[in-house]
Amino acid sequence: MISTRELTKDFVVNRTETVHAVRGISLDVEPGELVAVLGPNGAGKTTTLRMLTTLIAPTSGTAKVAGYDVTSDPSLVRRQIGYVGQGNGAGHSQRVRDELVGQGVIYGLDSRSAKKRAGELLESLELADLANRKVSDLSGGQRRRLDVAMGLVHAPGLLFLDEPSTGLDPQNRANLWDHILRMREQYSMTIMLTTHYLDEADSMAERVVVVDHGEVIADDTADALKAELAGDQLILTVAPGNRTRVAELAKQLPGAKDVVADGDQLTLRVADGPAALPELIAASQRSAVPIATAQVRRPTLDDVFLNLTGRSLREADSTGKAAA
Ligand SMILES: Nc1ncnc2c1ncn2[C@@H]1O[C@H](COP(=O)(O)OP(=O)(O)OP(=O)(O)O)[C@@H](O)[C@H]1O
Ligand SMILES: [Mg+2]
Repeated sequence: MISTRELTKDFVVNRTETVHAVRGISLDVEPGELVAVLGPNGAGKTTTLRMLTTLIAPTSGTAKVAGYDVTSDPSLVRRQIGYVGQGNGAGHSQRVRDELVGQGVIYGLDSRSAKKRAGELLESLELADLANRKVSDLSGGQRRRLDVAMGLVHAPGLLFLDEPSTGLDPQNRANLWDHILRMREQYSMTIMLTTHYLDEADSMAERVVVVDHGEVIADDTADALKAELAGDQLILTVAPGNRTRVAELAKQLPGAKDVVADGDQLTLRVADGPAALPELIAASQRSAVPIATAQVRRPTLDDVFLNLTGRSLREADSTGKAAA
């Protein structure tokens, strides 16, 4: 569905400075995949999506989207895809329902189907009560939902969503995901999206692509990324006199590493926390060195990013400045 080779994008700013926004991305996305692209501010996510949706031309490299080359056949690419940009796409003076129906017609639906689709989307994205409002009167989150509805109205086979859920309240985030997953099922959609909500990428996407400084630094399932790169963390409290002996027992666990003692706390990483913990407790009982409390902390995608880059995704910014 998507195939890129060494895709790059340079921006020349003020005629002198060159920003290497994307530095050679090679990716293959199969039909039906749901891929989440993660990365700090300025990593090159939006730039990549804009190249794949033919809004900007690559500096070098190639990209095929839905079977067509983005450089030589941009209009054929556009016919196959839907795109919800990071900014607002919807116009101002139109009413919500008309805007949505109009979008459907532009994308080739007949007016009856466009009205039907618009009605379904208004309902499921909780916009039905606002159908007759002017787009310019909507709140930020309502507007965002309309943007998403605009990208979904023609049920494209391939959908690009740039931070679809940013600015939505938890209820509407859940509704949006519900709708996306249902549409995906119904129309066998392939979806590539960006998000800053790590939990969202973790639970919804079966594939996570991590981008930093315009390059792909990891590409796998969320579970595999977490297992390979971070492992589970065991957090134990142990009386100071027993700490060394417990640490020795802990080091015997499969995949044990990063054993750190701090006061009465002992932390370490293991391959499989829920399996390792009972083993450790049994060993501590056999050796009569009690462990007072123990918990397993499963890694997050933020741990994965930290492990890869030495920076936390929450604080990182690919442009070098602190993220807002
Ligand atoms: N039109 C442009 N002109 C100059 N520089 C640009 C332009 N568009 C993007 N950039 C720069 O390219 C880099 C990548 O930007 P991009 O918008 O792709 O990041 P992003 O990963 O989407 O970040 P965010 O999470 O903040 O949306 C940034 O350093 C940005 O300042
Ligand atoms: Mg962006």
